[in-house]
Amino acid sequence: MNFVTHLECANCGQRFEADRPYNLCTSCQRPLWVRYDLNALKQQFARKDLFGRPPTLWRYLELLPIREPEKIVSLAETITPILQTKRLAAWFGLNQLYVKDESRLPTGSFKARGMAMAISMANQFGTKKVAVPTAGNAGGAMAAYAAAAGMEAYVFMPDDAPVINMKECYLAGAKTFLVNGLIADCGRLVGEGTKVKGWFNLSTLKEPYRIEGKKTMGLELAEQFDWELPDVILYPTGGGTGLIGMWKAFQELERLGWLKSPKRPKMFACQSDGCAPIVEAFNRGARFAQPFENPATMASGLRVPSTVGDFMVLDAVRESGGAALAASEADIPKWMRLAASREGISLCPESAICLGVLELLLQRGTLKPNDRIVIFNTGAAQKYPGAVKENLRRIDLTERTDWESI
Ligand SMILES: Cc1ncc(COP(=O)(O)O)c(C=O)c1O
Ligand SMILES: [Zn+2]
Repeated sequence: MNFVTHLECANCGQRFEADRPYNLCTSCQRPLWVRYDLNALKQQFARKDLFGRPPTLWRYLELLPIREPEKIVSLAETITPILQTKRLAAWFGLNQLYVKDESRLPTGSFKARGMAMAISMANQFGTKKVAVPTAGNAGGAMAAYAAAAGMEAYVFMPDDAPVINMKECYLAGAKTFLVNGLIADCGRLVGEGTKVKGWFNLSTLKEPYRIEGKKTMGLELAEQFDWELPDVILYPTGGGTGLIGMWKAFQELERLGWLKSPKRPKMFACQSDGCAPIVEAFNRGARFAQPFENPATMASGLRVPSTVGDFMVLDAVRESGGAALAASEADIPKWMRLAASREGISLCPESAICLGVLELLLQRGTLKPNDRIVIFNTGAAQKYPGAVKENLRRIDLTERTDWESI
């Protein structure tokens, strides 16, 4: 059963027919929401119907836009575990600090959720060629799903994106281009290419179904917490689809009456002080952000100086009673090492920023020791070998081992 009724511009409200490929709103060039008949869904489908379904994001099919399930392109998007930290929580003086570990997904990041959905929808529409500008991980995910679907893939990424992302795109057979600029420059190239070459543009938020894939993070979280949402979510925010998608999930679940309590989590959009356009807009009280000048962060997914969904992130954060905060870029390696050495959890640099924001929130007294706090580990730390400069001792086999100093 499919319950999509229409799509709707998040800014001007213009309606669009369901079951078509779309990019931005044709009137105001802002992103589109996919809307469902939640009353009908509520009548015909209940929480308990999820029981026994496969542990992948497709278990939420009735809340997803796909109409022809046989067109789904899947690499087994597993339910990602929620790890309750002990030694890390204690370090912060907290009792309930959780990490939802998205690095377990195909291609090692949460981008797989959005791309599984967008490529499945493109497959349903008969699309043959897809293109994307990327900070790295979205390109890797798109390349893999396009390969699985037998589509031609074109990826444009900054030439200083993580090397692993370049290699994964190349291995997956995507035509991969390194651009001496930022993700916005890559976006411009994809925009031109779609006109000249007839590709379908899968750019984040410029394609409405990626949000629906990211939404499954929120659906999963709710189910894993037995339909009682946590008090606080810390989310590393670049383009913002992850945070926006999760907030949409909570709204839909509430309308379906699936949540035990109407209390929704406070959402904190976490950015690096090396690129913090959403934080800057939040502090100004603005609904739209200004492009961030000279963005510089090793958390490549956060190096997004402007996003077409800025107002959607800021609306969600404000409605939730949360905030947008920037933590110190220089502290990223410190937080990565803290999480790995105290808890065995390898955080990507983007998510390491969330620990910096957590510290700021605790210093301000915004959070309480008993709050249920969830941090999203959006990607695999192993994709960023340059993030940490280790200083390891060498052993020279031609010399006697000095056991005293070991
Ligand atoms: C690992 C990682 N975390 C976070 C983000 C930011 O995600 P979003 O654009 O949904 O805000 C990205 C985006 O590239 C990413 O790769
Ligand atoms: Zn519009």
